[in-house]
Amino acid sequence: MTKQTCSLVVLPGDGIGPEVMAEVRKLMTWLESKAGLSFDVHEDLIGGAAIDAHGVPLTDEAVARCQDADAVLLGAVGGPKWDNVPYDIRPEAGLLKIRKDMDLFANLRPAIVFDALADASTLKPEIVKGLDILIVRELTGGVYFGEPKGISDLPDGQRRGVNTQVYTTSEIHRVGRVAFEMARKRQNRVCSAEKSNVMESGKLWREEITKLHQAEYADVALSHMYADNCAMQLLRNPRQFDVLVTDNLFGDILSDEAAMLTGSLGMLPSASLGLEDAGTGRRKALYEPVHGSAPDIAGQGKANPLATILSFSMCLRYSLDQGLLADEIEWAVQDLLGAGLRTGDIMAEGCTCVSTSEMGDTLIKALDAIRKAA
Ligand code: IPM
Ligand code: MG
Repeated sequence: MTKQTCSLVVLPGDGIGPEVMAEVRKLMTWLESKAGLSFDVHEDLIGGAAIDAHGVPLTDEAVARCQDADAVLLGAVGGPKWDNVPYDIRPEAGLLKIRKDMDLFANLRPAIVFDALADASTLKPEIVKGLDILIVRELTGGVYFGEPKGISDLPDGQRRGVNTQVYTTSEIHRVGRVAFEMARKRQNRVCSAEKSNVMESGKLWREEITKLHQAEYADVALSHMYADNCAMQLLRNPRQFDVLVTDNLFGDILSDEAAMLTGSLGMLPSASLGLEDAGTGRRKALYEPVHGSAPDIAGQGKANPLATILSFSMCLRYSLDQGLLADEIEWAVQDLLGAGLRTGDIMAEGCTCVSTSEMGDTLIKALDAIRKAA
């Protein structure tokens, strides 16, 4: 049997990024020996690590490699060390650059509550048990990239900061399509969030999502919500949502909120996808945990690697056509949580607190056990 070779670019980044990515590398080794896959991995720098080495948070050569790979895996960027670098080359700028250069406009952020973690949420377990939301966040437009932007000096000595919220029809339609397509594979419901009561860009968003729905996705149940109400509804009754589609900034905020419903940011994976290539049907893609670089715990073996591991599992599913392996990894995560294994962020009474690498090792054991039982 010829092995499927997967070309990946791995960008561990800063803070806990390298630690959590090391656990994914263990998983790759396991997949090579047990699942007939072969990984052709190029590792590169992003964020503060790239600033230190190259003076920029992401080089054009690194982006070119990412463009050619089957997928990109990213850890996290940023840390206090780079707090005072110029704004346009700060670590976060590397993240925005790779999203923009690869045109990764659809950011999928699933918020799933594993049964074993229903108690880890700050909300009552009966509110979050069984939760399964998919946030589809627009990632390459809106106020993150809109022009004009900048800080200027005013004649009277004041300063003025400007960012521009802007969306076009096609930007709204392409992310809307991803949301409707995803909904069809789930509970067939989409809720779209904006502030059409105060923002023209929000009014356009609502109108264009409605048009797209009528023209191509009338079979999907569509609702609209103001983003502030949505933030409130996510806490009041989160299970009312199936797919939630929203813009870049609201998506940033609502996805952090949804993450906490699940108990910890340390559990949340994400996938950022580009347009489908007309020839190959392949989408450019980048997978990263929703959490940041957590400089306060970096290098201490305390980080939860599961968000990064689950991001890699999304990579297997969406980019490498290995849905069954992705299922196995997700079952293994459920099994080890069920057995009471916890990193510090999700620690609970009666459970066993393990380090980052112990969590990764246990995952491999759980995968072996699943294989043996099959
Ligand atoms: C995220 C992060 C980034 C964002 C930061 C680090 C630039 O918060 O991916 O949600 O705002 O998009
Ligand atoms: Mg964020």
